[in-house]
Amino acid sequence: MLSRREFVKLCMSSTLSVPLTNILFEELVKAQVVHPEKPRALWLQAATCSGNTLSFANTVNPYLSDVVLNVIDLKYHLELINAFGEQSTKVIEDTVEKGDYILIVEGAIPTKDGGIYATSGERNGQPWKAIDLVRYAASRATYVIAIGVCAVSGGPFAGHPNPTGCVGVHEVIDKPVINCPGCPCHPDWFVGTLAHLLLYKENPKLDDFNRPVMFYGRPIHDLCDRRSYFENGIFAEYPGDFGCMYKIGCKGPITYADCPVRKWNEYVNWPVEDNAPCIGCANPGFPDASSPFFEHLPSIRVPNITVTANTVGVATAAVTVGAIGAHLVGNIIKGRPLGGTPHTPDKDDTGEREGKLENEERDK
Ligand code: SF4
Ligand code: F3S
Repeated sequence: MLSRREFVKLCMSSTLSVPLTNILFEELVKAQVVHPEKPRALWLQAATCSGNTLSFANTVNPYLSDVVLNVIDLKYHLELINAFGEQSTKVIEDTVEKGDYILIVEGAIPTKDGGIYATSGERNGQPWKAIDLVRYAASRATYVIAIGVCAVSGGPFAGHPNPTGCVGVHEVIDKPVINCPGCPCHPDWFVGTLAHLLLYKENPKLDDFNRPVMFYGRPIHDLCDRRSYFENGIFAEYPGDFGCMYKIGCKGPITYADCPVRKWNEYVNWPVEDNAPCIGCANPGFPDASSPFFEHLPSIRVPNITVTANTVGVATAAVTVGAIGAHLVGNIIKGRPLGGTPHTPDKDDTGEREGKLENEERDK
């Protein structure tokens, strides 16, 4: 069996010749995790577009069916398991009663008006509200994974003015949650996290937002192929242009995820390579903390293109680190870090943000 160090190295590798999920699946088979007594799991959906299920379903190696039938014993998933009505309620109750299972939650949790805005089937003749269901299912879970930014921090459902009071899972339960954000979550981020739990019976190393460091430990900006364009002041003016996307809103500098090296859709491409800025979907607080998508981050001096490339690079790098950190912290303080507390509009939200001034300076 791989040592933990080898496992993490593998997960962080950018030179794999076969998909990570495929390699991990073989490791799980070797470690005999894939066995008749498979770990049980419940996958619950609250306020969601099911994008994380779709993203996960798009894994080719191993196929979704390999994971849900051979790696885990997926007892319940509204869209994947053929149980409905009383039968599905009973499956959930039986699993919780036995205890010791992995709970996976997709979607934000509405809290307003008693949480009535997301329900899943019925219990005792009443709609089973997601908030009650998730609390109930978490009560005897060994691990809880929040998959996708909605489950992590409310995501678009908690966007201002957040009429249903959506929050992330960690806000409604009192046990640790492993957060795997993204809109959607990359299949590798989820399967890698799951494989770590199964192989080593403990959490992978997590950051301050409880994200697995092996996937969310580095800023996109540091891994981006276009970093040299940033340093040299060569910027795209419109989506679709070539060059660094910073001036048209790229949130790569404040987004911690490995999209540039992992890529999406079976390792084919990622937003910047497709000439679109990163909008920071793996950030806690997305989308409000990333908005407006197509305006550059405030308080960062865009390099003056009349300065030599070297001077631009040094100046930019120094200012970026400080200013970007301040912007993110600012958003987190006034917005919703991992929660979903309603966002209060302020001057920044009305467009009179510092970034505007920066834009004017840039356009001179
Ligand atoms: Fe890449 Fe965006 Fe950073 Fe530019 S700002 S180097 S496009 S991550
Ligand atoms: Fe999301 Fe940015 Fe990656 S938009 S998919 S975190 S490149």
